[in-house]
Amino acid sequence: MSGRLNGKVAFITGAARGQGRAHAVRLASEGADIIAVDLAGPLPQVQYESATPDDLAETARLVEQTGRGIVTAQTDTRDLDGLRKAVQEGVETFGRLDAIVANAGICVPETWDEITPESFRDVMDINVTGTWNTVVAGAQQIIDGGRGGSIVLISSAAGLKPQPFMVHYTASKHAVTGMARALAAEFGKHSVRVNSVHPGAVDTPMGGGDMVNGLRRVFATNPQLTQMNAPFLPEGHAEPEDIAATVSWLISDDARFVTGAQIAVDLGSTQY
Ligand SMILES: NC(=O)c1ccc[n+]([C@@H]2O[C@H](COP(=O)([O-])OP(=O)(O)OC[C@H]3O[C@@H](n4cnc5c(N)ncnc54)[C@H](O)[C@@H]3O)[C@@H](O)[C@H]2O)c1
Repeated sequence: MSGRLNGKVAFITGAARGQGRAHAVRLASEGADIIAVDLAGPLPQVQYESATPDDLAETARLVEQTGRGIVTAQTDTRDLDGLRKAVQEGVETFGRLDAIVANAGICVPETWDEITPESFRDVMDINVTGTWNTVVAGAQQIIDGGRGGSIVLISSAAGLKPQPFMVHYTASKHAVTGMARALAAEFGKHSVRVNSVHPGAVDTPMGGGDMVNGLRRVFATNPQLTQMNAPFLPEGHAEPEDIAATVSWLISDDARFVTGAQIAVDLGSTQY
């Protein structure tokens, strides 16, 4: 790998597995030290398996294999004090902070009238407030470093267009898109860039368990809407490493004039 992130330190949430793990390994392989946070325990509402402390330990092992350092914390992004503590420990270990990847999120397929008050609240709390907490926990450290930096909010194709049968998820990911744009305006004067990334379907544990059956079931209530997510490219879905390549670019100086942008890595699925 290029070494284009040599000397940088990145704070990543949802790093135990899936895309978060891929971000940690990719950024480390380009030279960054990593502060990795994950709940690594039972997730509310979801129809797929939850991540475990062993998953987070495996991410640490993979990062260490690249030769870079990693500090991990089993923390819920809904816990701002816990996130601040994790960032503080990481900055004490590595001496600085340059980048934040707010990646932790949950996804629940439900028709609008199946969404309970608890389910709506949990999706918004994790996907929106958790993302906000992640930024708040680290942004001042980046600003205080005086070197500028890069903040990447992981939204979704559902942050650019509706994802049928996920009103709460679509609302939450549109909120993340708006959050990135608004933060980009305020952080610009510190040379801190803020962008949102919009994956289409990605092959991660989020798509496992009962998720496929859950999606089939809700789409059966209105099969016409199945077409809404069709990709242009033949592969149909991305791998976590494809999203990590974009995140790595956004953190690097190669993207030094990219801010307030919505970067879709969705095989074209949001184009119509
Ligand atoms: N997989 C997809 O098809 C897809 C598509 C578009 C966007 N996304 C988004 O990408 C991001 C990563 O998803 P993934 O596919 O890797 O899913 P995943 O479920 O495989 O991994 C998500 C990780 O986040 C952690 N997490 C969830 N809530 C947390 C919380 N409150 N505090 C701390 N950690 C928490 C989980 O424990 C898990 O390790 C999410 O924001 C998701 O909404 C996923």
